Amino acid sequence: MFSSIQELSEKLDAAKYVTDPVTLKVIYLAAQMQKPVLAEGPPGSGKTELAKVVALAADTTIERLQCYEGLNEEKAIGKFDESLQRLYLNTQGSTASASWASLRRDLHTLEFFQEGPLLRALLCEKPCVLLIDEIDKVSEEFEAELLEILSDWQLSIPKIGTIKAKSKPFVVLTSNEIRRIGDPLRRRSLYLRFEHPTIERETQILEKRTADTHAELHGQLAGFAHALRGYTLEKAPSIAEMLDLAEALKVLGVRQISADLRDVLLPLIAKTQNDRKRLLLRDGFESLVYDTQQYSRDGGQTALEQKELVCTERRRY
Ligand SMILES: Nc1ncnc2c1ncn2[C@@H]1O[C@H](COP(=O)(O)OP(=O)(O)OP(=O)(O)O)[C@@H](O)[C@H]1O
Ligand SMILES: [Mg+2]
Repeated sequence: MFSSIQELSEKLDAAKYVTDPVTLKVIYLAAQMQKPVLAEGPPGSGKTELAKVVALAADTTIERLQCYEGLNEEKAIGKFDESLQRLYLNTQGSTASASWASLRRDLHTLEFFQEGPLLRALLCEKPCVLLIDEIDKVSEEFEAELLEILSDWQLSIPKIGTIKAKSKPFVVLTSNEIRRIGDPLRRRSLYLRFEHPTIERETQILEKRTADTHAELHGQLAGFAHALRGYTLEKAPSIAEMLDLAEALKVLGVRQISADLRDVLLPLIAKTQNDRKRLLLRDGFESLVYDTQQYSRDGGQTALEQKELVCTERRRY
């Protein structure tokens, strides 16, 4: 899929995805070793996006299986197209040459099968990206069924038989850890841990993803996100919400986050009644804005610069 880590890095950069050397190596290894990546971490931390940008970087298609409670094989693998089978029977069944055995055989082929994302991924001529999104929402039984595709690159379909992969997809499994993913799946995957980004990294994401907003806002928004996440909210804002906030500030023509913006910004950052109440407390929002200014002042600095700053200040005393 990728000839080198350097190539992967350049392509993810072109796809506006901010990554780090370790993540890059894990993705490269997974592609080379044809192993799934299990991406686990909080909502909005870039797990689904990873699959999308890898597809973009590899110039290939993405097949997405969105998991939910009650997801069944039919939705994931596919099912026979009964109306097409009926049509075939009506047209071919009356011809003199058609024997029941041959009709039956014809009807149970992939030609009459509506393929679900798992099967489509295996039937791609060129390796695609298979995103199995939010796998923690499906049952353990369903998870066990995925093992066949993920280790043997094949699927068993009743009445058709075993379908072998034409190409092996790059698989990304994502989980928000609602249910613990079983060990057999973990054993077969390379693990990528996602967390809320550091101020520096979130500034880079904001720079890349909202290039048309005022540049001075990127560091401020990253500092604001950091302050909000340290404010023990019921629902801490994700990167996606900070991108929305950047968009909102652009629409409002705002260049500086200030306490008087509280009521306008609340619907974008407080998504539960309790969080709203907390941010409406006297000084609640003001203290956040104060922290934002502190963080955005320091946040752009590298760890080395910060260390040097501490040393200089120590020398001064
Ligand atoms: N490293 C990154 N580089 C660039 N953009 C990012 C990055 N991480 C996240 N984003 C942005 O954040 C948005 C949300 O990310 P994504 O949908 O992948 O989160 P998620 O972890 O899948 O969340 P959920 O668990 O709620 O599905 C993306 O659409 C993208 O714009
Ligand atoms: Mg997601």
